[in-house]
Amino acid sequence: MSDKKIIAVVGATGAQGGGLVRAILSDPAGGFAVRALTRNVDSAKARELAELGAEVVAADVDDPASLERAFAGAWGAFCVTFFWEHFSPEKERVQARAMAEAAKRAGLQHVIWSTLEDTRRWVPLDDDRMPTLMGSYKVPHFDAKGESDHFFAELGVPTTFLLTSFYWDNLIHFGMGPKPAGDGTLAFTLPMGSAKLPGIAARDIGRCAYGIFKRGGELIGKTVGIAGEHLSGEEMAAALSQALGETVRHNAVEPAVYRGFGFPGAEDLGNMFQFKRDFEADFRGARDLSFSRSLNPELQSFKGWLADNAARIPRG
Ligand SMILES: NC(=O)c1ccc[n+]([C@@H]2O[C@H](COP(=O)([O-])OP(=O)(O)OC[C@H]3O[C@@H](n4cnc5c(N)ncnc54)[C@H](OP(=O)(O)O)[C@@H]3O)[C@@H](O)[C@H]2O)c1
Repeated sequence: MSDKKIIAVVGATGAQGGGLVRAILSDPAGGFAVRALTRNVDSAKARELAELGAEVVAADVDDPASLERAFAGAWGAFCVTFFWEHFSPEKERVQARAMAEAAKRAGLQHVIWSTLEDTRRWVPLDDDRMPTLMGSYKVPHFDAKGESDHFFAELGVPTTFLLTSFYWDNLIHFGMGPKPAGDGTLAFTLPMGSAKLPGIAARDIGRCAYGIFKRGGELIGKTVGIAGEHLSGEEMAAALSQALGETVRHNAVEPAVYRGFGFPGAEDLGNMFQFKRDFEADFRGARDLSFSRSLNPELQSFKGWLADNAARIPRG
């Protein structure tokens, strides 16, 4: 029997978990094996992971018994929740607690919890700089993750709390790419004025997570942040212009305007960008580039990411 340390990966068919699965599989001498968790072991993405060499097992974070089975016998786990599937911070908290409890029962030795800041520590609910959403949040998809840190801490699960960054892949998959401005140019909307946005290639999150596991216990109990580059909207627009071969201008609307765009999640994202703008020093300070590169020497810059992905960015 292999004496490799098994890492159970939640969200293995997705962006964060998928990057970790591939990072583990591409380092066969690294001492780790991967168990990819999915709700559907027969999906094309799950089969692809099995073909690459992953053990693929069924689990649903809404089903604690399935999580317990999937974590049993593992050495570590990567835990992530899926806000944009349900838009419910309450559900995210329930799922985080279920993962922390399953990790505790399985006696895991190292868990990475993919978290974000609870922005209410900076902007209390009675602070009217930005509206309170869903009754008790400022940035629901951040706050619920940050609030959930305590589940792992209080159960004594040996956890590294991983602060991720904005995926540049949002320009492809999340409708955040440049749009025709009506004057023959493209407009890239980022409501952060001249503040810089920490960004990352989504797959680099998993690669950095792998770097955390490889450090042994050094980062257990710590909160660590990662990013590939910190760029202003103007700098991103300039890089996009170069990569797309078309003029892309930064459309620096105010967060309040962004909140009014009306698409599902627009208010949440408007508050998120305002938080990143108004607390730029703290937000960027938590996401050090050289530390990120030390975890993952292949860390991509925005230009590097664009070289691989510009053709996939919709321009409509
Ligand atoms: N977009 C950004 O810029 C950004 C930045 C930082 C953090 N985040 C956070 O990242 C999180 C999402 O991670 P991601 O982007 O890696 O997700 P993703 O690419 O959307 O993938 C999610 C995967 O998780 C699985 N999944 C969904 N619901 C599940 C459930 N109930 N039980 C088990 N597996 C489930 C699905 O796999 P199966 O269908 O195979 O089960 C899916 O492939 C969100 O909470 C978001 O707030 C996003």
